[in-house]
Formats: sequence, structure tokens, C-alpha cells
Amino acid sequence: LTRRPIIGVFDSGVGGLTVLRELVRLVDADYRYFGDTARLPYGSKSVETVARYAVASAQFLERMGAEMLVIACNTASALALDAIRSSVKIAVTGVIAPGAERAAQVSRTRQAVVIGTEATVSSHAYCRELARVGLKAREKACPLLVPLVEEGWTDHPVTEQVARIYLDELFAGESQDRDEDVLLLGCTHYPLLRPLLRRLLPLALSIVDSAESTAQAVAAMNSPGGHPASPTRRPPGLQFFATDSGEKFRRLGSRFLGWELENVTHVDIDHG
Ligand code: DGL
Repeated sequence: LTRRPIIGVFDSGVGGLTVLRELVRLVDADYRYFGDTARLPYGSKSVETVARYAVASAQFLERMGAEMLVIACNTASALALDAIRSSVKIAVTGVIAPGAERAAQVSRTRQAVVIGTEATVSSHAYCRELARVGLKAREKACPLLVPLVEEGWTDHPVTEQVARIYLDELFAGESQDRDEDVLLLGCTHYPLLRPLLRRLLPLALSIVDSAESTAQAVAAMNSPGGHPASPTRRPPGLQFFATDSGEKFRRLGSRFLGWELENVTHVDIDHG
């Protein structure tokens, strides 16, 4: 048996399991997932704080044997990717560039809208990355969506109402030169809202999900020839670490991952 690569996946909590779910589907590897559940949410915190937490978490995964790192957290990718890269020796992939590149492939009008946490949106990391691939973008923070998804209200009238308000604000007002045809989901939790958002959005808007785009990018890096992970392969080795209760991580996590999760270890790491 050939040894598989060990991929470390980092998120502020359970949301990044949406990225892990896509990775497991597309990339034949063993995984170590770290959720910094004791310190979440990252989405409302400052660059300095997020960078400090993210660097310590990335170094933890490197110590646990990760040979490459996927920063599943959009907020950490937006605010701290450079800091993370310079603090570890292994290759680091964030979710922003793959999401932006996928949006560029999908968009005909070269205009996109992005939704994410407060911190991701204020950093304008998506706008910069989209500009680099030739797209003009507007961004909107949707802070209430994360707690609603964690509550399990992914198809609930209250969530629909909240999402409708955010989208109305996003698309309010007329503008001659506005012609967006892509909505980029710039937060780990939003893939779970995809069906609800799809119902609310005009058909002309395609949804691009940074979780899926990132897994596709990692798959392309791991098998440049483009061999898809075989459906008959051995199931991946999965190990989970959480800074808050392992039991809570297990409970919430299964919803994000879509199957029951085992091997959760509670860890206490020093965030400097
Ligand atoms: N993981 C975060 C993100 O993708 C959302 C949750 C949080 O704010 O910590 O931006």
C-alpha cells in the first residue's frame, strides 16, 4: 500500500467540516482536523487576534504530522494567510484564492457579490483576489447566518427571513453598471444554506462555494494529471482535535460533515 499524504485542515470550529467533506470526496489522503472551538467565532475578531490563534493552530497541526495545510476558515484565510505561511514549513492553501478563481471561471459579466463574516468582508481579501482574476466585486457581511446554521436552522423561516433581508440590502438600489452573475459563499457555514439561498436568488446568479472550490484546487495539486479519488479506495484516516468539549464538537460536527464523527480529542494549546 502506498502511504497517503497527511493533510491538516484548520478552522475556527466545526464549519470547516464543509471543506473536509469536499476534500474527502476528492482527495485520497489522511486528515487531521483542528477546530478552535474554545475561541470561535473568529468572524467578529481583529486581525491581530485571529492571526495569533491561527498561527498557533497551524503550528499544532504541523506538529501532529500534517504535510500540507488547508485553511478552511474564510476569516483566517482572509486575515492571516501570510502570517500562517511564514510560521510553518509546510505548504498552506487558503479558501480565498480557489473561491475567486472558480468565480472567474463561472462569471460571464465579470462581476460578483461575496458574502462572509464581518472580519472577512472588512479585510476585502475577496475583492482583492477577485480583482486579480479580473472580476469586480461587492461584499456583504452576514453575521447572523453563522449562529443560525449552528442552531441547525438551515431550512427555517427565521433563517429565510434573515437571508432575505441581507440579500435585499445587497441588491438594493439601481445601478446602471451593476450586472453581477455570481454569488460567492465566503464562509464555512454557508454551503449548508445553499438550497435556501438558491430559492431566494434570481436564477441568473450562480452560486460558487469556497469549500468545494478549495477541495478541487487541492485535488489538482495532489494529482496534477487529474485522477479523481477512486470510489473504491480505503476510507481516509480521520482525526479531530477541538479546543472546547470533544462531545459538543462530535454532536455539532456530524451535521456539517454528514456522517457520525469519531476520534475527537480535546486539546489545550497555548495561543501565545
Ligand atoms: N469559520 C468562519 C469563516 O469561515 C466562520 C465562523 C467564525 O466566525 O469563526 O469565516
